[in-house]
Amino acid sequence: MKVTVFPSSIETSRGLILRLVEIMNNEPDRIFNIAVSGGSTPALMFDLWANEYMEITPWNRMCIYWVDERCVPPDDSDSNYGMMRNLLLGMAPIPYENVFRIRGEAKPVKEAARYSELVKQQVPSKQGWPEFDIILLGAGDDGHTSSIFPGQEELLTSASVYVVSINPRNGQKRIAMTGYPILNARHVIFLITGKGKADVVEEICKSGDVGPAAYVAHHAQNVELFMDEGAALYIGDRK
Ligand code: 6PG
Repeated sequence: MKVTVFPSSIETSRGLILRLVEIMNNEPDRIFNIAVSGGSTPALMFDLWANEYMEITPWNRMCIYWVDERCVPPDDSDSNYGMMRNLLLGMAPIPYENVFRIRGEAKPVKEAARYSELVKQQVPSKQGWPEFDIILLGAGDDGHTSSIFPGQEELLTSASVYVVSINPRNGQKRIAMTGYPILNARHVIFLITGKGKADVVEEICKSGDVGPAAYVAHHAQNVELFMDEGAALYIGDRK
């Protein structure tokens, strides 16, 4: 697990954008299947990306999927797709057919099945699971990642690619990528910023598999953590 700590959330976002561009530039003939998370943390990165890194990004070699989605319509303020569309994808020259949103407005069980099948068709598989090139993850202050919450650890070993989960804080249904496809990715990259995440970062870096985020960080093959000093408060190790 490679840990990189930046002085601020803006510099962390910039560092991650440049790392993603570097990964794609290292394989200039490859189409990258990238699954992104939502929540509030990546909003800053998407905004910076649209304003400062649009030209250096190989948009025509990117297919965008979601790690998880709230079961709400795309125009709902909770929508992970809606957030990325409004901040980045709506301005980026990415072919429309290369953006595969989870339909949060659909019946959750049916959508989890539909999106699982779509990903299995679109993303090459390795050892029986879709192999994304890059999966971007966040971590909740409760230790969740994707929308796999503490107490739902059975989703880390689900036989389905996507399932319906429930946010225990508010009962909101979610469509969530499960453990095996996450662990199967070529690059698993966490973006974690803010002092509120210092505890979960300490768990990820110093404890065992104490929650879904820690489990993924310890079991995925190729993991990078991009953090600011606030999130890295208890582990030090500045960039
Ligand atoms: C979501 C995200 C989720 C997120 C963490 C962190 O739909 O909420 O995909 O996994 O990465 O909850 O969320 P914040 O960035 O809002 O702290």
